[in-house]
Amino acid sequence: MSQLAAIVVSQDEEFRHQIGCLLRAGGVPVGVIEDQRAQPQALAPDLALVDIRADAPSGIAAIERLRGTFATVAIFAVAARTDPELILQAMRAGANEFFTWPPAEESFHGAVRRTAARRETKDASSKPPSATLVFFGAKGGAGTTTVAVNCAVELARLTKRPAIIVDLKACLGEVALFLGVRPRFTVLDAIENLHRLDRDFLKELVVRHKSGLEILAASEQFDRPNAQDAGAVEELFRILSRSHDFIVIDAGNSINSCSLAALYAADSIFLVTNPDVPSVRNAQRLVERVRQLGASAERIRIVLNRFAETLMIGPKQIETALGYSIDQMFSSDYKTVSTALNSGVPLALANHSELAAQFNRFTRQIIGPADDQGPPPPEKRSKFLGLL
Ligand SMILES: Nc1ncnc2c1ncn2[C@@H]1O[C@H](COP(=O)(O)OP(=O)(O)OP(=O)(O)O)[C@@H](O)[C@H]1O
Ligand SMILES: [Mg+2]
Repeated sequence: MSQLAAIVVSQDEEFRHQIGCLLRAGGVPVGVIEDQRAQPQALAPDLALVDIRADAPSGIAAIERLRGTFATVAIFAVAARTDPELILQAMRAGANEFFTWPPAEESFHGAVRRTAARRETKDASSKPPSATLVFFGAKGGAGTTTVAVNCAVELARLTKRPAIIVDLKACLGEVALFLGVRPRFTVLDAIENLHRLDRDFLKELVVRHKSGLEILAASEQFDRPNAQDAGAVEELFRILSRSHDFIVIDAGNSINSCSLAALYAADSIFLVTNPDVPSVRNAQRLVERVRQLGASAERIRIVLNRFAETLMIGPKQIETALGYSIDQMFSSDYKTVSTALNSGVPLALANHSELAAQFNRFTRQIIGPADDQGPPPPEKRSKFLGLL
């Protein structure tokens, strides 16, 4: 599902903050537009929340202006109380939904879902909905980059649709290295040029891999992107969701403002963990933290990397500890992974290893049968959880 773009029209900072949290807590990814420097067409919001609590006449005027400028935007008016006359005025001015403050969560999220469904129907005639897939490590070295890169290559290869991988790590990102390409530009060039970040400009910034995957490489500065860049990073994901069908994000393994922007933008958050006690404990804490931060828990998926039959801690124990079932397991095969890594050739393009077949299955699950244009996966005996 494409991320919805929302604007919040209010003088009240607390209102903007609380509405922002509410928008992010639902099942639909919503980006709140804060950077007004972006391209006008990129700015076009899907959703506008207008505060008409304190000053109803200027709130109604704002609704009229929005409706005049953006014919298809869904406008939610938020009033202090239920007043039939005010509801009528708001609806006449162009509001689609009316809430009293604070909005009841269930009906608010229901209205956001309806907006997303309308947007999908609208998009169906032009561009297929995009999917933002965020890979987040339970711990350094869990294999987040390995999993993100190989999944992204498979997405591009199998669907032949526009796919991009964004390396969000500050300075030490290895996505480009894993793919054997030398980038000239990075994420920083993209967020510093949001105002002219159209399809043509973006083409200049990315490196195209032979699988068709586009790569937006990691910044080369140790301290950026940082907290000040988080708004621009969120905006970047939203712009990419308009031009690409798949946005894969290597978000590293620490929760900071920028990785949080990725978590909010995600349709699916793949938490990459290993079958050892520290990784599972970290994963447990991260699941909890992601929930606390308001990113919807229903978007979290667990990926168990470096699985081996001989391990003390089994998949069932991990599932019980995390309260989630494991979405996919990747077996431990250091030789295959490091050969692919050192040669800069992703697994899917390098050999017919079991691991390559696991990535193939994992990716096919993500894209579903309708978009799958590639050859069938290699014949393998299918055992539990897509591992064997
Ligand atoms: N399934 C696997 N089997 C064996 N080794 C693996 C597997 N996946 C990853 N590795 C190895 O683990 C190491 C770390 O992998 P990777 O760089 O993908 O992890 P990461 O979580 O992105 O690390 P970082 O925290 O540095 O970003 C690499 O040497 C890689 O070869
Ligand atoms: Mg990494």
